[in-house]
Amino acid sequence: MAYDTSRPLGFATRAIHHGYHPEDNQNALTPPLHLTSTFAFQTAEQGGALFAGESEGHIYSRISNPTVALLESRIAELEGTEAGLCTASGMGAISATMWTLVKPGDEIITDKTLYGCTFAFMRDGLSRFGIRITHVDLRDPENLRAAISDQTRIVYFETPANPNMRLVDIRAVSDIAREHGALVVVDNTYASPMLTRPISLGADFVLHSATKYLGGHGDLVAGAVCGRAEAIHDIRMVGVKDMTGSVMAPFNAMLVMRGLKTLQLRMQRHCESGMKVAEWLAAQPGVSAVHYPGLASHPQHALARRQMDGFGGMIAFELEGGYEAGIAMMNRLSLIRRAVSLGDAETLVQHPASMTHSTYSPEERAAHGISDGLVRLSVGLEDVADLLEDLASALGANAP
Ligand SMILES: Cc1ncc(COP(=O)(O)O)c(C=O)c1O
Repeated sequence: MAYDTSRPLGFATRAIHHGYHPEDNQNALTPPLHLTSTFAFQTAEQGGALFAGESEGHIYSRISNPTVALLESRIAELEGTEAGLCTASGMGAISATMWTLVKPGDEIITDKTLYGCTFAFMRDGLSRFGIRITHVDLRDPENLRAAISDQTRIVYFETPANPNMRLVDIRAVSDIAREHGALVVVDNTYASPMLTRPISLGADFVLHSATKYLGGHGDLVAGAVCGRAEAIHDIRMVGVKDMTGSVMAPFNAMLVMRGLKTLQLRMQRHCESGMKVAEWLAAQPGVSAVHYPGLASHPQHALARRQMDGFGGMIAFELEGGYEAGIAMMNRLSLIRRAVSLGDAETLVQHPASMTHSTYSPEERAAHGISDGLVRLSVGLEDVADLLEDLASALGANAP
């Protein structure tokens, strides 16, 4: 290895270098793109040994691929765990993980706030196969203690949660889950490993929509799950290989690796601008609520300071005029793009009730704390003065 490993390497260094040695790859600085669906066996016996798990190597790219494997090891490294598995999308990672871990008769306890398609997957997918889904407000870990039982196989949540920016105390929830033998699965899409490392706080699995901050450029759809090596191997061989076929293409792995190289720099900027935009919004007369964990007014600000290394670029806010005012404001924005997804260089705005969370019925949204007036902003990497000017003109306010 060409670099000093006598002390732990920093986050940015690992995001750029981990697991790759140019000297083993004809001195190519950038890892090669292995565009191959299958791998040639030297002998029939060697192929048989690979299938039997008696030797290590690649067989077929629905199981593993060297370019994807490098990305998997990098994401696992950044999350501080043994192994990673990349998938075609975040939903691919979520579904492959869940299909592998649960069986009929099991219960999954989830937080009340989930990304819309995750909520729909639980309600319309898993529950049709004899798996009980119970939604609990995990902002108070004692609610989990009251609900958990011997049937609870998994406790599942996002923190910060999409879209209302509620937080879950990963350590407290993991302690309670462990007492009952349940596994903790955390969707870390909003924070990224730069801001939160759930495994170090007691979680068993960490999931990503790599479409978002990990990729960072809005040019791909991708997912990942990380955890202990044996468990990730099971998800690969059952959840991905046989059940969902949700495989990441090697080219997308290259793009996500390129994104990871600047993850630290980008997240610093997202955090800085996120804070400025949240503070500015909170000072505007027509804005009735700003949900951002970096604001002292966020009810879980103390937890955010403890659990996160920065507060990120995601903001949810509400206008005094509710739904109509929110929609009208969105339509007046010109630089900020009206689009779902998040974590891109471009600042994006969307309306969860009619877009990402329209999978919930109106009654479910009301019961799960997703108000119809909520507007979600993914603060990008542009000059923050330009973003504030766009927001100011859309709100009829003065730019700072
Ligand atoms: C928190 C969260 N998890 C999972 C997903 C699903 O990821 P993908 O769109 O990559 O399938 C999303 C997508 O928006 C998300 O916001």
